[in-house]
Amino acid sequence: MAPEVMSSQRILRNALPISTDDATSARVVVIGQGYVGLPIAMRAVAVGFDVVGYEVDAERVKRLQDRRSYVEDVTDATLEIAHQSGRYLPTAELADCSRFDFAVITVPTPLREGVPDLSYIEGAARQLAPLITPGATVILESTTYPGTTEELLTPILAAGSGLVPGRDFCLGYSPERIDPGNNTWGFRNTPKVVSGIDAASLTSVQTFYATLVDRVVPVSSPKVAELVKLLENTFRHINIALVNELAMFASDLGVNIWEAIDAASTKPFGFMMFTPGPGVGGHCLPVDPSYLSWKVKQALGMPFRFVELANDVNDHMPDYVARRISTLLNCDRKAVNGSRILVLGLAYKRNSGDARESPGPVLCDRLTALGAEVRAVDPHLADGQFPPAVTRAELSEEELQAADVVVVATDHDAFDWDAVLAQARRIFDTRHRLPSSPNVEYL
Ligand SMILES: NC(=O)c1ccc[n+]([C@@H]2O[C@H](COP(=O)([O-])OP(=O)(O)OC[C@H]3O[C@@H](n4cnc5c(N)ncnc54)[C@H](O)[C@@H]3O)[C@@H](O)[C@H]2O)c1
Repeated sequence: MAPEVMSSQRILRNALPISTDDATSARVVVIGQGYVGLPIAMRAVAVGFDVVGYEVDAERVKRLQDRRSYVEDVTDATLEIAHQSGRYLPTAELADCSRFDFAVITVPTPLREGVPDLSYIEGAARQLAPLITPGATVILESTTYPGTTEELLTPILAAGSGLVPGRDFCLGYSPERIDPGNNTWGFRNTPKVVSGIDAASLTSVQTFYATLVDRVVPVSSPKVAELVKLLENTFRHINIALVNELAMFASDLGVNIWEAIDAASTKPFGFMMFTPGPGVGGHCLPVDPSYLSWKVKQALGMPFRFVELANDVNDHMPDYVARRISTLLNCDRKAVNGSRILVLGLAYKRNSGDARESPGPVLCDRLTALGAEVRAVDPHLADGQFPPAVTRAELSEEELQAADVVVVATDHDAFDWDAVLAQARRIFDTRHRLPSSPNVEYL
């Protein structure tokens, strides 16, 4: 056993109310094996826990059993190592989750018509509750509004287990900060905010994560920890909206917003760089700030005006980009209707295969609705992630030359940018990926 693992186990046994029978290894259940849950499971295996990855999607479980990852931050090789350790069990069988010491809930928290949908958390809690034994610890990681752990999760777990949270088992909240594709800041070296419903729970949650990450940041309550996550994402959302709106004004004023942002970023204090784009996507930014504004409205009857404004600006970006493309075609005496438009990148961010809430497909739909023949290239996406009306294409000289406009929607490193610059007649670059050139127009 690696020294790190040994010390992890020692900390746990000494400091935590762990209910392991044989005390060879603490047992961790991760509920949901998605973008958040799978990396946690892999890290827990790496430090020596016995880990059950419980996942209701049978296709995902099959892939995990076959060592075929669908999460870009987890390689097939990592999965293979986890399997070989004998300490990782991906499963769709709830019975495999029994006798756990720690359970981490990482299920989705979407919006349904603007309203938080906590049904996945409720469902996971109902499944988990009868399996809780005295001394176990349950941690929620799903992003949600302040109050969820104490007001929603606690009663479900108490009723389903017949135990008293805090007295019989520990309960806490720790927001996930994972940034898929970020090679600098990963799960391990990103500080982790932790909380518990009482002092014993905080100690247990804190000690558990201290085995997984370099630094834990305890806060006084789950509500604070829940707000931390929403604050972080609302901050990003609002600042992106700020530069997006500025990009629209700057274009009309004839000022280069990109140059201004670069120059402003030389200020060593009081400024943080955000860049414009065709909109925001992924699971976090289009969703999380609305959890906060919903809660504010519901609890206080007040609108969260910053969030509403940011939603408005960011949601408008695909329409704005479509208008700029129309203006560009106009220079060639062409209409969008009947033009061939090649969109590069449909994922919501560079080098990612995540197209959830991505603005690229929305832009394609806008252009298709205007009568364009839209083709798109994205080596990170599966066929099913392309909008139905869009033809999937490969990046080639012929494809580039045949397009009336090439649109850089997502600047994947996999694209041959020299070829794009050399072969495309007109380029609308929403990411400022390409150097200045007569055939390049920037957002
Ligand atoms: N993806 C990110 O970058 C990111 C970052 C920080 C926080 N989060 C938050 O983490 C949570 C999970 O996000 P994600 O991106 O991992 O979602 P995901 O959809 O990739 O994964 C969630 C998984 O949970 C499974 N699931 C749903 N109900 C279940 C149940 N009862 N039992 C077992 N499995 C169940 C789903 O089938 C799915 O595979 C969300 O609240 C999200 O907002 C996501």
